[in-house]
Amino acid sequence: MRFDYDQLAPGIGYKLMTATITPRPIAWVSTLGKSGVVNAAPYSFFNAMGHTPPTLALGLLADPDKGYKDTARNILDTGEFVVNLVPESLAEAMNLTCINAPPDVSELDLANLTPAPSTHIRAPRIAESPVSFECVSLSTIVTGPHQTVVIGRILAVHIDDAYVIDGPRGHVDTPALGLIGRMHGAGWYARSTDMFQLDRPVWPPKG
Ligand SMILES: Cc1cc2nc3c(=O)[nH]c(=O)nc-3n(C[C@H](O)[C@H](O)[C@H](O)COP(=O)(O)O)c2cc1C
Repeated sequence: MRFDYDQLAPGIGYKLMTATITPRPIAWVSTLGKSGVVNAAPYSFFNAMGHTPPTLALGLLADPDKGYKDTARNILDTGEFVVNLVPESLAEAMNLTCINAPPDVSELDLANLTPAPSTHIRAPRIAESPVSFECVSLSTIVTGPHQTVVIGRILAVHIDDAYVIDGPRGHVDTPALGLIGRMHGAGWYARSTDMFQLDRPVWPPKG
C-alpha cells in the first residue's frame, strides 16, 4: 500500500512514521526558560548527526495549544539545551516529564528529579541520567507552523564513571547503560538487549 503525504491527515502521517521508524533513541531534553524555570521533556525525533563538529538533531513538533513546545521556545530564546539519555530505571520518571505542564512548572520537580549544573551552559543536566550532552544550538530550521528541527553542537558529554571502561580510549559499557528506545503506538518502548554482530565489509569482498 502506498500513502501519499499530500493526501493524508497529519495524524495518520504521524502514525505511519512513528510505527515504522523504530526504535528511536530518546533525548530527555533539559532547558532553562527565560524566567529561570527548568524544563524537561522527552523527544524521540532525535539522533546523532556528525562528529566534526559533534552534532545532534531534535524534531520538536507544534503543540496544539501553546504553539511552540516549551523546549522549542527555550532553545529558540536561549540557544542552549542538554540532551540526557534514558535507562530503563528512569522510564517512568521520563514519562512523567512529558506531561503538558505550563511553562512556569518544572517537570523535574514533578518527577522528583535533580538538576545538576552544566559546565559550559546555563541549562542544567538531569543528575539521575547516566549520559548528558551539553549543547548549543548550531542551527534551527522552522519546518512548519511552530514545528522546528534543532541542530545542536555538543560542547561536552558527562558519562557516569560507573559506565566508563577506558576514558582516554573512549570506551563505554553500552550494554550496562540499559538505554531504552521509543517504539510504536501509544506507549511501546524497546530495551537494547537483543543484539547481534556483523563485521563491516572491506573492498575487495571476500569469496
Ligand atoms: C518517549 C516520548 C517521546 C516523545 N518524542 C517527541 C518528539 O520527538 N517530538 C515532540 O514534539 N514531542 C515528543 N513527545 C511529546 C513531548 O514530550 C510532550 O509534548 C511534552 O509535553 C513537551 O514538553 P515541553 O512543552 O515542556 O517541551 C514525546 C513524548 C514521549 C513520552
